Amino acid sequence: MKFGLLISATVFAARLAHAVPTSIADVIMSHASRDGIDLSESNTPRTTRARLHESEDEELETSSTFTAHAEPDWYRNVAPFTGGNADRNDGGGTPSPAWNVSSHLDFMDTIGISHSVLGFTSPSANAFLGDKARTVALARLINEQLAAYARTYPDSFHFFAAMPLPYTDEAITELKYAVTELGAVGVALMSNHEGHYLGYDSFTPFWQAMDGLGGRQVVYVHPTTPWLNINETWIPANPYSDIDESRMEFYMETARTFIDLTLKQTIHNFTNTHFVLPHIGGAFPTMIDRVLKTVHTELYESSLEIFRTRFWWDSASPTYFHQINGLLAYDIPKANLLYGTDYPFISAAVTAADFDSIMAYPGLSDEEKEDLLSNNYKILFGDKLHFQ
Ligand SMILES: *[C@@H]1O[C@H](CO)[C@@H](O)[C@H](O)[C@H]1NC(C)=O
Ligand SMILES: *[C@@H]1O[C@H](CO)[C@@H](O)[C@H](O)[C@H]1NC(C)=O
Ligand SMILES: *[C@@H]1O[C@H](CO)[C@@H](O)[C@H](O)[C@H]1NC(C)=O
Repeated sequence: MKFGLLISATVFAARLAHAVPTSIADVIMSHASRDGIDLSESNTPRTTRARLHESEDEELETSSTFTAHAEPDWYRNVAPFTGGNADRNDGGGTPSPAWNVSSHLDFMDTIGISHSVLGFTSPSANAFLGDKARTVALARLINEQLAAYARTYPDSFHFFAAMPLPYTDEAITELKYAVTELGAVGVALMSNHEGHYLGYDSFTPFWQAMDGLGGRQVVYVHPTTPWLNINETWIPANPYSDIDESRMEFYMETARTFIDLTLKQTIHNFTNTHFVLPHIGGAFPTMIDRVLKTVHTELYESSLEIFRTRFWWDSASPTYFHQINGLLAYDIPKANLLYGTDYPFISAAVTAADFDSIMAYPGLSDEEKEDLLSNNYKILFGDKLHFQ
């Protein structure tokens, strides 16, 4: 059972202490209590094997940066099926892959990557649909965990913080904590939070708060299950259920949420905020003309201007064999292309083939490819990155 295992966050916090100063558990608990977050036993995920896996500092040679997913043991207990397979109620689907810091660093070494910006994949903090207290607590635990990785491996990791939306007030509290106290370089949002797409009216104060933090804010959006709440029942929509939803529905989800952000003009109104789109936008680029040349034509030019300046396109998975041509047809600057992976959800071998396809792509010069692997990230994040 997905939610069957529940014990103490204190265990998690105490195990964290293996890697960081012993007072950290107290610090985590006191910050949570200050922010009104209940991390008590009845409210937080079981963390039977929660622990930071230590490894010796490793010398890595190249300087590319990418987005990737973290998936510690304790989170696998909370969400045994991640990355959009939760709808396979028939017992099928892909279990959450094993992951730890050592294997992640090994993987980076294999591909020749020196820095990762880590974020949790779907469902992230939304493993307990409709349960506000647990969603808020889980977001806090995820962020403490990611901050611990970044503190322990400052030359290898930065992170995108998880947000407990759709609970807007709590998400604003978490946003400020994660960015100003934990050092998150941005936030990772899901395509929908409990069925609400990111342009949802009630989320506007969250966007206002983020834009108001000062300086550039970076939002990485990850697709998730298209949740429908019908008659008080949560339904993981996947009309074509012969393949898991991460293959097709995730592309649709990315399109839905960015169309929503565009039509609600969230992207127009909050001009400090930049977006990282997964899988170079999924099905979103294909739908831009379809939507903006038929309805809301008045938003066409201003939206395209934003897609070309404040949108950044993450390459994760097989996007450079053919899909990239559709995106570049919108005159997206090549300086806004980023390298990303779906590791550990996609194997190192497939990830290597994807990497090779970028290297073989005739539409980018060698210099543009180098920029995609490294410099474009530096331009996006500016002085938020402290890597050498
Ligand atoms: C990390 O994960 C790898 C691959 O699953 C495994 O072989 C290794 O034993 C793990 N290391 C630790 C410290 O748990
Ligand atoms: C919703 O639940 C109510 C009460 O159980 C029931 O009468 C109604 O038919 C349900 N509606 C749908 C669309 O399932
Ligand atoms: C953005 O501003 C326009 C007015 O310029 C307004 O109609 C729209 O509702 C606003 N959207 C959001 C999400 O703030």
